[in-house]
Amino acid sequence: MRVHVADHPLITQKLTMLREATTPSPTFRALTEELVTLLAYEATRNVRTHEVTIMTPVAETVGLAISEPRPLIVPILRAGLGMLEGMVKLVPGAEVGFLGMVRDHDTLEPSVYAERLPDQLEGRQCFVLDPMLATGGSLLAAIEFLFERGADDVTAICLLGAPEGLEMIEKATAGRDVTIVLGALDEKLNEKGYIVPGLGDAGDRLYGTVG
Ligand code: PRP
Ligand code: URA
Repeated sequence: MRVHVADHPLITQKLTMLREATTPSPTFRALTEELVTLLAYEATRNVRTHEVTIMTPVAETVGLAISEPRPLIVPILRAGLGMLEGMVKLVPGAEVGFLGMVRDHDTLEPSVYAERLPDQLEGRQCFVLDPMLATGGSLLAAIEFLFERGADDVTAICLLGAPEGLEMIEKATAGRDVTIVLGALDEKLNEKGYIVPGLGDAGDRLYGTVG
């Protein structure tokens, strides 16, 4: 597994605003979108392309185009939805599939409640979007789901990660082509499975509390 933790002052500055407990939802949503675009730049470093010959107004030249099959972007609902716009801005030619997951507040076990993905993912590069990698249970379930359908390689973009979750995913996906791009690697998980210092509940901060 490859792990890339961002190291850029603008990413840290935006994450600092995101973490601040008083940051209101509209600002939180805007920052999330900006952060994803910055992280997606690194996450798509190995996106598959092929050479194309084009004509500029001046001369013929060789450039790059995104290869088929097109990459698949998979936001994990709810909170991953807040990352979708920022990602498709960078890769407008990608397709989008959806996975709805919620983790149980007591057991911290994730369960899938919605799924809209192509049945066959042979040869596809997949980009999973989820702001929080805490115990890693949700992200691992998503990664396994995609590999079971034939995905070729999976890159996850998360705003914050905890060392415990990262280690668990590394062990569970040994031998698979998995990359995780993080905005920051935080200190630990607390007894309720929240990332410390973290930013609280990402879904609630983006969209408000559900009962
Ligand atoms: C949050 C978050 C991740 C998950 C991370 O989702 O968006 O999907 O928790 O935790 P884990 O690494 O321990 O699995 P949540 O279940 O709160 O759902 P929501 O996005 O609908 O708020
Ligand atoms: N999910 C969140 O939204 N926040 C955390 O800190 C952990 C899981």
